[in-house]
Amino acid sequence: MADRYLSLTATAPGRFLTRRLGLPQPTALKRWSPGHPTLDGPLLHLTAGTSGLDLAPVLARTGLAGPTGLTTTGTGTTTGIGTGTGTGTGTGTGTGNPAAVVLDATGVTDFATLAEVHAALHPVVRSVATGGRIVVLGAPLDAHDHQQAAVQQGLEGFVRSLGKEVGRGRTVTLLRLAGDATAAESTLRFLLSPRSAYVSGQVIEVGDITGITAPEDWSRPLAGRTALVTGAARGIGAAVAETLARDGARVICLDVPQAESELTATATRLKGTPLPLDITAPDAGERIASELPGGLDVLVHNAGITRDRKLANMPADRWSSVLEVNLASVVRTTDALLSAKALNTGGRIVATASISGIAGNVGQTNYATSKAGVIGLVRALAPHALADHGVTVNAVAPGFIETRMTAAVPLLVREAGRRMNSLAQGGLPVDVAETTAWLAHPASGAVNGQVVRVCGQSLLGA
Ligand code: NAI
Repeated sequence: MADRYLSLTATAPGRFLTRRLGLPQPTALKRWSPGHPTLDGPLLHLTAGTSGLDLAPVLARTGLAGPTGLTTTGTGTTTGIGTGTGTGTGTGTGTGNPAAVVLDATGVTDFATLAEVHAALHPVVRSVATGGRIVVLGAPLDAHDHQQAAVQQGLEGFVRSLGKEVGRGRTVTLLRLAGDATAAESTLRFLLSPRSAYVSGQVIEVGDITGITAPEDWSRPLAGRTALVTGAARGIGAAVAETLARDGARVICLDVPQAESELTATATRLKGTPLPLDITAPDAGERIASELPGGLDVLVHNAGITRDRKLANMPADRWSSVLEVNLASVVRTTDALLSAKALNTGGRIVATASISGIAGNVGQTNYATSKAGVIGLVRALAPHALADHGVTVNAVAPGFIETRMTAAVPLLVREAGRRMNSLAQGGLPVDVAETTAWLAHPASGAVNGQVVRVCGQSLLGA
């Protein structure tokens, strides 16, 4: 169902009226399409504290400077631009408003360097272009240095608050880097581009993994890889399948036999293979493994159902069907594929959770239990899978996404879901798909055990 309010506020009279009434002011978000540059304008690279991160070559290599070239380089301890009083910002030389700002705050270790975060961003934040990106780079918390831990944790509050302030479709993210800048390249490419349009207010950890090799062609990073997406006939799953195919993967699209015609249409559109199979079948994992002589590189657990009812009114079958589809089958299939060694070394598992699994929701004790369970599974499995097979395991947690599922929600609840986030609108299936594709990327091997919310910084569970 179209978001008519978003269309209304895109017109001058609509914007005038809604502003006068003090109503939310969403800005239509830009999405990425092939051939589009990563950024639409200059990138500003700032530094707070003394950083040991060699970031400039990564930014230059990725072409993240956009059409006007790399405009600014961080210089660690030079005097700040604008009116900031701190000492650790870069200097800008480009033209036009920045489409993105990267603030390297990995060297923030005490209160003096924390003040440089304010000094660096205060003068520039207003000038960031509509739909622009602010990415703050932080360091892991140091268990032996409580001041460092305090100020680095402080960055989370900073980023989450700034995300709620910036408006105009701009997003703010904190990336905690345990290793060098190269390990974060695929993540920076994602976060600084329109691919991450609906990801804001998030804290993402990038591990210390060496030997990550860049793909030959960043526009087709999954070339030669095989992916399986469950629940791929429609909605978010179809968008995920399409995006992975766009990125070069051969995609196997799985859905229930009852959805076979829709499934075949989706698979045909992206030159994939339909696999009509109920994921709750006890032998589903073995059946999938038998379809994959060359093994699997990307496994996306997307199939999911809701059977909402308050606990007092919820019969056992509504509880068990949701747990069975959303969680038990995810555990079973993952186990079967790992023990059959069907998941290739360096494979990627992405499971679909939900912000309900983080915040809880009325009428969703079953659903929220299953989605919180998915998060538990990801966190428990991630360290072992990586150590044993170089496999990463992550979760995406969508907020309000415009699908058939949310179109069926009563009007007032639907409007609340759409507006109660920093971007004041619902996300699109492609937003979850782009996030999944970034996690599935061969160069995202340093991102493991993360739960990334695709929710426009929803107020729920924030
Ligand atoms: P949808 O209902 O449009 O699509 C789900 C797909 O899963 C359907 O094609 C369905 O046939 C398939 N499926 C269900 N049971 C299955 C089974 N036993 N075996 C194989 N396939 C099965 O739902 P939507 O909105 O695309 O959601 C996709 C995922 O995202 C789900 O896990 C959902 O819980 C999650 N999610 C969606 C949100 C939203 O706002 N739409 C918000 C948060 C999470």
